[in-house]
Amino acid sequence: MFEEAQYFAPVAAQADGSVVVELSASHPGFADPVYRARRNAIAGLAVNYQPGTPIPIAEYTEQEHEVWATVTRELGIKHAKYATAEYLDGTARLGLPQERIPQLEEVSQLLEPLTGFRYLPAAGLVPLREFYGVLADGLFHSTQYIRHHSVPFYTPEPDVIHEVIGHANALANPRYAALYRLAGQAARRVEGEEALEFLSKVFWFTMEFGVMQEANELKAYGAGILSSYGEIEEFRGMDIRPLDLSAMGTTHYDITKYQDVLFRAETVQHLEDVVGDFWDTCDDDSIAKLVAARV
Ligand SMILES: [Fe+2]
Repeated sequence: MFEEAQYFAPVAAQADGSVVVELSASHPGFADPVYRARRNAIAGLAVNYQPGTPIPIAEYTEQEHEVWATVTRELGIKHAKYATAEYLDGTARLGLPQERIPQLEEVSQLLEPLTGFRYLPAAGLVPLREFYGVLADGLFHSTQYIRHHSVPFYTPEPDVIHEVIGHANALANPRYAALYRLAGQAARRVEGEEALEFLSKVFWFTMEFGVMQEANELKAYGAGILSSYGEIEEFRGMDIRPLDLSAMGTTHYDITKYQDVLFRAETVQHLEDVVGDFWDTCDDDSIAKLVAARV
């Protein structure tokens, strides 16, 4: 999922136990009462979820499954050209359904034997410390709703296509999964909110929007790029910079636009050496030094 509050539609629990998702007027589903009812019902599943129990089943409609099938087919074509070998390895190992939206419980059952990761349902924004912290336990918070059918290649929020096609395929690769876990351990280790925000930005510029050199081509491994039909065609033309912890942890990003500054790892080993080691060892003091080095 994405971390920024403004990216998620707010979710409000009502006194009668029902749940309302407050879509903005610019959301493609804003004027569609059927879609809004679906969003409320699906958000209610996560709000009422009890940890330790099976993930509630979201009963998707045929129209929703069709959106998944369309986007899966088109992104698959682009992944063959633009995704890293490790991401494609994860995709092959995971074997997500192509024609229908998988339940998060099913995603967990496919993923757990590969890297130990399981999914948790999220209605919307999950607080940073909780979202990152449970990565250390091999748990990944995920929304369950899907984008509006009128614009299958666009979503203003992280939907199940982003969470599962973007993240689960990456989490199925052991080296990427290990990096997610290290980010979680770092989030548990740091105490200050500034340090937490810094390491979450490093996550943003790597596991969400990271790119990697592969032979003579630039490939993507970040879930945000790999789940975005438009962005995946654009990333090679962006401002590509070398991996730099101080820069990544302090660079502002605008979630409402394509990411125009991206950071390139030379290899997976390079990513592990720079970013993995950072998450493995960072604390509030070392992060304060990285922030100071930037100013
Ligand atoms: Fe994400």
